[in-house]
Amino acid sequence: RKILATELPDAQVIVVSNREPYIHNLKEDEVELVVPASGLVSALEPITRACAGTWVAYGGGSADHLTVDENDRVAVPPDDPSYMLRRVWLSDEEHAGYYLGFANEGLWPLCHIAFTRPNFRAADWETYQSVNRKFANAVVAEARNERPIVLVQDYHFALLPRMLREQLPDAIIITFWHIPWPNSEVFSICPWRERILDGLLGSSIIGFHTQFHCNNFIESVDRFLETRIEREDAAISYQGRTSLVHAYPISIEWPPAQLGKVPAVQQCRDRVRTRLGLAEGVKLCVGVERLDYTKGIVDRFRALDELFNRHPEWIGKVTVLQIAAPSRGTLPDYERLHRECERCAEEINQRYGYEGYTPVLFIAEHHTQRQVYEIYRAADVCMVTSLHDGMNLVAKEFVAARDDEQGVLILSMFAGASKELLEALIVNPFDAATMGEALQHALAMSSDEQRDRMRRMREIVRDNNVYRWAGSMLLDAARLRKRAEVELPG
Ligand code: G6P
Repeated sequence: RKILATELPDAQVIVVSNREPYIHNLKEDEVELVVPASGLVSALEPITRACAGTWVAYGGGSADHLTVDENDRVAVPPDDPSYMLRRVWLSDEEHAGYYLGFANEGLWPLCHIAFTRPNFRAADWETYQSVNRKFANAVVAEARNERPIVLVQDYHFALLPRMLREQLPDAIIITFWHIPWPNSEVFSICPWRERILDGLLGSSIIGFHTQFHCNNFIESVDRFLETRIEREDAAISYQGRTSLVHAYPISIEWPPAQLGKVPAVQQCRDRVRTRLGLAEGVKLCVGVERLDYTKGIVDRFRALDELFNRHPEWIGKVTVLQIAAPSRGTLPDYERLHRECERCAEEINQRYGYEGYTPVLFIAEHHTQRQVYEIYRAADVCMVTSLHDGMNLVAKEFVAARDDEQGVLILSMFAGASKELLEALIVNPFDAATMGEALQHALAMSSDEQRDRMRRMREIVRDNNVYRWAGSMLLDAARLRKRAEVELPG
């Protein structure tokens, strides 16, 4: 807020993402409020609240229509209205082509090394373009003047920056790509690669979580477009405009609002353990994510199998609780994953479980943020074993939830968070044997060692919180605007 007031006075902030921060659903004739499981949402929500901005997103809830005014707006959060959510409506065909098809069957697997083949279909591409146009029109309608700051979020909107630039030439457009960017060889698979790059270069700033992904992006631009690249400043000049490409590692608010609402650690432990029926002395390992093939959920179960193989003394003494919020469930790869997780959990339970002891509890249901924080606080170990992940905010949330300075984080080397949380036990999720050993190390770790590691990780998340993330992008944007004003006086 301070940066906005001093560096960018009077600038209106508009966030645009596919996923909305609050979903209204109809449940047995009642309107129910859901906060979706999305790292993007948990990061951007406190920022939008802090700058009283406007958030433009797809209205996908069954009661979303019932809660907006005549301009499709609703003030949120409902219990403490701080900003406007402007909903964009999509038909079933638009949702299928733009979201399920191009974004999630095309770009999502393209950008993640999870060995799922991307599917690119011309019809999905058509819909992706028209839906990007629809969102561009909604953003322009929300802009109070010609110089708003628009924060474009993620791979659903690669074309939006260019479309906005055409209509709002003086806007600051900051695009943040929340997922990895592949190397140029992989990126070349996309039949519309030049158009995607051209769309993104409508931005003033393009942000990624890591320098590595920035480099991949710059290489892709270099290979497929005629541009001038100044590598030192990471600036790309294209068609008379310059875009900066920088790394801004995303984070969470500190302290997280949820922490004020959950009971003490001991109480969380008692409640969660009773609910799960855990016997005295059984250690609890947790996994918390969307049910997604990039998250390495099956690999995590295999690590437990490996632990039991190598260290049978742990049989009966550890349970893995995996909660997985269903998303994109109608896509075949996601349905397949759901079945595979169930099958693998069942196999392990049959092999090692007995009356009163279940090694793997797999719950594919949405949990509220409050329930998730209770689980974090009840856990002995948190396993984040993504096969590939831009950042992964579960790792940071777990650390933030542990004000008792206890608990061990096992973290994939292929999650952006592993570049910051060096005191986690860093693992290669493709290597089951080493994962099993990491689990053994975590379960046997002394309370002192847990405290030392956790303390350091908490300092890092506290210092590099999401306000710093947004602040550094806004500062860079302010510098760009000043430079443009000097170059083009009047
Ligand atoms: C990832 C993506 C976000 C997305 C979230 C949830 O974090 O980067 O853009 O919102 O997953 O996925 P969903 O498809 O349910 O919105």
